[in-house]
Amino acid sequence: MEVIIQDSGDDVGRLAARIIARQLLKKPNSVLGLATGSTPIGTYRELVRLHSKEGLDFSQVTTFNLDEYLGLPPSHPQSYRHFMDEHLFSHINIPKGNIHVPYGHAEAIEQFCAWYEAEIVRCGGIDIQILGVGADGHIAFNEPGSSLGSRTRLKTLTEQTINDNARFFDSKDQVPRFAVTMGVGTILEAHRVLLLAIGGGKAEVVTKAIEGPITASVTASALQLHRDVVVIVDSEAGSKLARADYYHWVSEQKKRHLPGVEV
Ligand code: GLP
Repeated sequence: MEVIIQDSGDDVGRLAARIIARQLLKKPNSVLGLATGSTPIGTYRELVRLHSKEGLDFSQVTTFNLDEYLGLPPSHPQSYRHFMDEHLFSHINIPKGNIHVPYGHAEAIEQFCAWYEAEIVRCGGIDIQILGVGADGHIAFNEPGSSLGSRTRLKTLTEQTINDNARFFDSKDQVPRFAVTMGVGTILEAHRVLLLAIGGGKAEVVTKAIEGPITASVTASALQLHRDVVVIVDSEAGSKLARADYYHWVSEQKKRHLPGVEV
């Protein structure tokens, strides 16, 4: 696990986008795992900039989003599909048929979830998965107590998540109670994971996730088992890390002694 502490949230987005851009240059038909929430917005903004100003090509890219609220059609302004269209898909040259966002309106949820898992495998697996982390330590919508081996399925949201996400809706009552989400086990199969966190509100949960015990109570902590995770946080989200000095030291030593080696 490599932990990189950046000065600002904008720097977090720029670095994450640079890592993704490098992946696309290396493998133009990469499969990207995408997240929603406020955290990755800067990353998507930078990817859009790289596309429009520097010609970053998404024409062969395939994407799989982590999750979607149950019951919100793609056209709903608070659906994750709508979020992705607004922040990324409608600004880049990705073919619409290559985009996968769990369909939160599926009649047959179980069959849909099995299909989603199979589709990820059929496309060759996820090359890079972007993740944010919820205040309760969840990744995607894998709420505390989710099995660390879980797969794509229907999940009931916790009250904390409903409260946290109420800011995007007119009222708390409108926040769906259920979501379709990739499981922790699904996420752990991505070839590479970028965990992003911005702001002091995430400081405690980031510390628990990367320096605490591996536990289903903080599903992000399962990432400690993954062999290629890059954690990128701003200084506020990284402010409670016990090993912050070491993480800074590693970044400095790499810059100084391994200048050609990128994250
Ligand atoms: C939601 C999403 C998560 C996201 C989390 C944090 O619950 N399902 O994927 O990581 O929110 O959101 P934010 O980035 O807005 O803090």
